[in-house]
Amino acid sequence: MSSEGKKKVILSCAQPTGKLSLGNYLGAVRNWAEMLEKNECFFGIVDLHAITTPAKPALLRQNVFDCLAQYIACGLDPEKCHQFVQSHVVGHTELAWILTCITPIGELQRMTQFKDKTAKLGFKATHSDGDDLKFSHEGARPQASINAGILCYPVLMAADILLYNADQVPVGEDQRQHLELCRDLAQRFNHQYSETFVIPKPYVPKVGSRIMSLSEPTRKMSKSDKNERATLFILDEPDLIKKKISSAVTDSGSKIESNSEKPGVANLLSIHSALSGQNTDQLEEHFAGKGYGVLKSELTELISDSLQPVREKYHELIQDKTYLKSVLAQGANAAQKRAYKILGKVYRKVGFPERDRT
Ligand code: TYM
Repeated sequence: MSSEGKKKVILSCAQPTGKLSLGNYLGAVRNWAEMLEKNECFFGIVDLHAITTPAKPALLRQNVFDCLAQYIACGLDPEKCHQFVQSHVVGHTELAWILTCITPIGELQRMTQFKDKTAKLGFKATHSDGDDLKFSHEGARPQASINAGILCYPVLMAADILLYNADQVPVGEDQRQHLELCRDLAQRFNHQYSETFVIPKPYVPKVGSRIMSLSEPTRKMSKSDKNERATLFILDEPDLIKKKISSAVTDSGSKIESNSEKPGVANLLSIHSALSGQNTDQLEEHFAGKGYGVLKSELTELISDSLQPVREKYHELIQDKTYLKSVLAQGANAAQKRAYKILGKVYRKVGFPERDRT
C-alpha cells in the first residue's frame, strides 16, 4: 500500500516477439504474478515496440495472443490484474511524443541497448570526443539501416510507465538503464511543468534478473538469438529442455561453483537457484564432489517440472480466442480509463487548449 493507504500501481510489459524465454519468466513475468494481491497491476503487451524490428503482420497479431496466453499461464489471473495491448490504449504514443520533446538525442544514443542493436545491424557507434557518438558505416551490411524507432524506443517505454503513474516497475536487469531514463524524464517534466508524474521505482529481483545464454554465458539469454541452443523457452517440451541443457556451455575444471571465472556453471546454478529457492551456498554444498552431468540432469528435471503447469495451461488457453479477446477488452478499458486521466492532466500542464465539446 502507498502512504495514502491506496494500493500501489504496478506496471510492466514485454514485447510480443514469440515465445517467452526462461529469462523473461525468471527475470520478469513470474515476479509480476507475486504482486497481484496487494497492488493494482497493469501488464502490457507492447506491439508498438515490437515493430521497431521488422515483423510480419499476421505473425505479430498471433504473437500478441500467444503472449497473453503465456502471461495468464504464468499466473497473471485476469480477475486480479489488467492485461492490455499497447496499441489498444490511446495515450502511449501521444505521451511518448511529449516526452521526446524533452529528451536530448545524446541520452538516447548512449543507451546500451541502442548501441547493441545498432552494432547488430552492422553499424558501429564509437565515442569520438567527449560525449559525441559517431556512426561509422564501415563494414556495415549494405541493407542495414537504423530506424528512428530504435533510437526513440526508451522514450515510448517511459511513456508506457508514466501514462499510468506507476509506483513500481518489475523488470530484469537489462531494463534498469531504461528505467533510469524514465525517472529522469519524469523529474524533468515535473520540474518544467510542475508536479505531475510519480517517480517510478524499478523492482529487479535478487535472483534470476539476468539469465545468460546457454551457449555464450557472457551474453544475456535473448528470445531472438539465432542459435537454437542458446535460449530456453517456457513452452519447450521436456525433450528439448534436456537437449539444450545438456549442450549448455560449461567451463574447464569440474568443480561446481558460482564465480565469475565460470560463467557457464554460474548461470546454470542461478537458474537452479531461481527455481528451487536454494541459495548458491546451499547449491555448492549440494553438488560438492559431483560432476557437471549431475548438475545438468537435476536442472533439466527441475526446469521441466516447474514449467509443466505453464505449458499445459498455455495449450488450453490458446484454443480459446474468444476468452483471450475478452481479457484484452477488459484490460484495455481499465487501462484507458487511467491513461485518459493522466494524459488529460499532462495536456493541461503542457498548455494544449481543451477541446470544446458543445
Ligand atoms: P522484453 O520483451 O525484452 O523482456 C520482458 C522482460 O523480461 C526481462 N528479461 C530478462 N530477465 C532476466 N534475464 C534475461 N535474460 C531476460 N531477458 C529479458 C526484461 O528485463 C523485461 O523485464 N523494453 C521492454 C518492454 C517494455 C517495458 C515497458 C517494460 C516496454 N514498455 C514498460 C517495463 C515497463 C522489453 O523489451 O522487454
